[in-house]
Amino acid sequence: MRVHTSKNFDTLNRREFARLFAWGGSAAVFARAGFAWERPALPGTPDSPDEKFWLQVRKQFVLPPELGVLNAANLCPSPAPVLEAMYDHTRDMDRDPSFQNRVKMGEGKEATRRALAEFLRVSPEEIVITRNTSESNNLVSSGVDLKPGDEVLLFSDNHPSNLAAWQEKSKRWGFTIRIVPQVNPHPGFDYYIDAFSKAMTPRTRVLGFTHLTSTVGDLFPATELCRRARERGILTLVDGAQSLGLLDVDLSEMQPDFYTGSAHKWPCGPKEVGVLYINKTAQPKIWASILSAMPGAVGISKTFEAFGQRDEPAIIGFGRALKFQNEIGRRVIEVRARQLTRMLLEGLRKIEGVKIWTSLEPSRSVAVVSFLPGNLDIGKLSAALYAKHRIGCATRIGQDRPGIRFSPHFYNATAEIERALVAIRKHVASGG
Ligand SMILES: Cc1ncc(COP(=O)(O)O)c(C=O)c1O
Repeated sequence: MRVHTSKNFDTLNRREFARLFAWGGSAAVFARAGFAWERPALPGTPDSPDEKFWLQVRKQFVLPPELGVLNAANLCPSPAPVLEAMYDHTRDMDRDPSFQNRVKMGEGKEATRRALAEFLRVSPEEIVITRNTSESNNLVSSGVDLKPGDEVLLFSDNHPSNLAAWQEKSKRWGFTIRIVPQVNPHPGFDYYIDAFSKAMTPRTRVLGFTHLTSTVGDLFPATELCRRARERGILTLVDGAQSLGLLDVDLSEMQPDFYTGSAHKWPCGPKEVGVLYINKTAQPKIWASILSAMPGAVGISKTFEAFGQRDEPAIIGFGRALKFQNEIGRRVIEVRARQLTRMLLEGLRKIEGVKIWTSLEPSRSVAVVSFLPGNLDIGKLSAALYAKHRIGCATRIGQDRPGIRFSPHFYNATAEIERALVAIRKHVASGG
């Protein structure tokens, strides 16, 4: 087995990955037995994980130690075990693409389905493995039977895949959209429970909302909203792009009809793999939108997941990512992300001229921190954070809560949070 250090990963990326995946790559490269990054073993999780523990966890990632990317809400890095699983299975597949050899890929896909079901505390018969949250949300809005006179109730701060998608489809099928507007800062769970309940009418067929918003990290009372909708016979679509792999989500408690997520966000899995949970009771109420070959093996996946040839090594990598989170402990991952969030919010509060959009109330927001850094040019500040301070972030441009968005996850060090805060303080104070 050849071992690479994270230090030489850049070099490896350019030179060797090009060779590994290029057509006609050298036989010597393909003849390797495996592929691994040198790293210490993942330590056991102590009862009260400290910074030392999290720094050891960080070593499972190929991120260079000096780079602090606070952008989990957009894209997380995958840890080495996930990269290795993807590489090993891709290599196996390409060394022998016969059906005989690929039987195990189908088995690997089913193992990921079982892992997802366990992770979400539901059954494998309710899991569809998709490409991402966008696809999962759209499979719902395209698959539910709606007609003129029906209403779909949405939150204004949903991602386009759960807002624009419904709006476009309402033009085609003639149903009506009702919107509950977002309020900033988050006014509390009771406010939204009341607002959504009042907006439900006898014509409402679907309620679509976001468990945790990507804009400012507003957390929604998903269990209560699903309960109220269920009492009225309304189907619920919970967009979990920002909660899967961050919060210790329990769908057996939340009981949505549909829940969606992406591997490449908080679960730290491969890109272009996602999940759509379809509650058993909702399965007779949704049509498959894509019909092709190679369906899943159990439950709804037999009819709903015939998406043609898949990237099974990536799907298997998703299963490995879930195992990685389980090994660390989902509860401590959530606690760590919440601690880093508090550090950021506390630090930003002390910087004069910064306007924070994210709720300061710990029960109302998690791991997504958005703020306006005075009247600094947001694009220039983001570029300076990356180039000078080695901090990655997201930006929001426009009228709606513009500024910088930091979204820390368990692989971020507290030193990165401190560095980000020092940098923001310095730039806001100097005005540039
Ligand atoms: C709330 C929410 N839903 C859906 C998506 C789309 O995710 P993906 O690009 O993985 O399809 C995002 C992406 O940021 C999101 O934040």
